[in-house]
Amino acid sequence: MAFGTPDAERIANFHRENFGEVEGKTMALYALGDLHLSFQVPEKSMNVFGKVWRNHETKAKTYIEQLVRPEDTLVLTGDHSWGKNLSLCQEDLEYIAAFPGRKILLRGNHDMFWDAKKTEKLNELYRDRLYFLQNNFYAYEDYALVGTKGFTFEGPFYLDRRGRIVGWDEQKEEHAKKLVKREAERLRMSFDKAREAGYQKFIMFLHYPPTNILEKDSVFTRMAEEYGAEQIVYSHCHGESRFHDSIIGMHNGIRYSLVSGDYLKFRPARILNT
Ligand SMILES: [Fe+2]
Repeated sequence: MAFGTPDAERIANFHRENFGEVEGKTMALYALGDLHLSFQVPEKSMNVFGKVWRNHETKAKTYIEQLVRPEDTLVLTGDHSWGKNLSLCQEDLEYIAAFPGRKILLRGNHDMFWDAKKTEKLNELYRDRLYFLQNNFYAYEDYALVGTKGFTFEGPFYLDRRGRIVGWDEQKEEHAKKLVKREAERLRMSFDKAREAGYQKFIMFLHYPPTNILEKDSVFTRMAEEYGAEQIVYSHCHGESRFHDSIIGMHNGIRYSLVSGDYLKFRPARILNT
């Protein structure tokens, strides 16, 4: 079909409406989180969590195969697998490896197979098939994709009869502060490595939301502002009641996107076209 015919125009319009601009664009960056695959631990299947999770692995795969081209990049923002160790994640990771495009993986709180200190080993093992983002960065055109798991204090919070927060578990909060500090150090390492390599444009990925329900900002949002990140992309929030736990949309010049699987109904979000 010759370009410029009504049919081609219709197809181009369809793509523009559904997948964004395609003409003249050479590649795209997508993100999706929380696949929570369980091929080797079927007892952990997410099917029981409602309609959106039913056969979600097939939904995700179908969307990814429709949207992502071999030249594109897909960042999977953590909670890839329920397997307790690497051998119990093999089929899940192979499932991901078979998706089109370059797959960059971030650590989620459930990714027990991934010891942050042994990320290089994972990168060796899956060389040229999967790219594990931890204390490093990956280039996407003139952007550096940086990130870490992150952390936020999620309570328990104590509520009054009207559902207002009147207190929280202070011991848990103290522990959370330590985890936040460590994750912030890891994130800074990712930013610094990218900057040392000459990158000035950043897109930042977290598994946890950058702020909790009590915070307007955090060490993570401030670091993004300090380095001039254009976007923060995060996941982890499941279920309607959690989708607005953190920032979505423009805030202090940064675009915040929630990409948790059930929020997106397992259709990857396009983060950038270049
Ligand atoms: Fe999570």
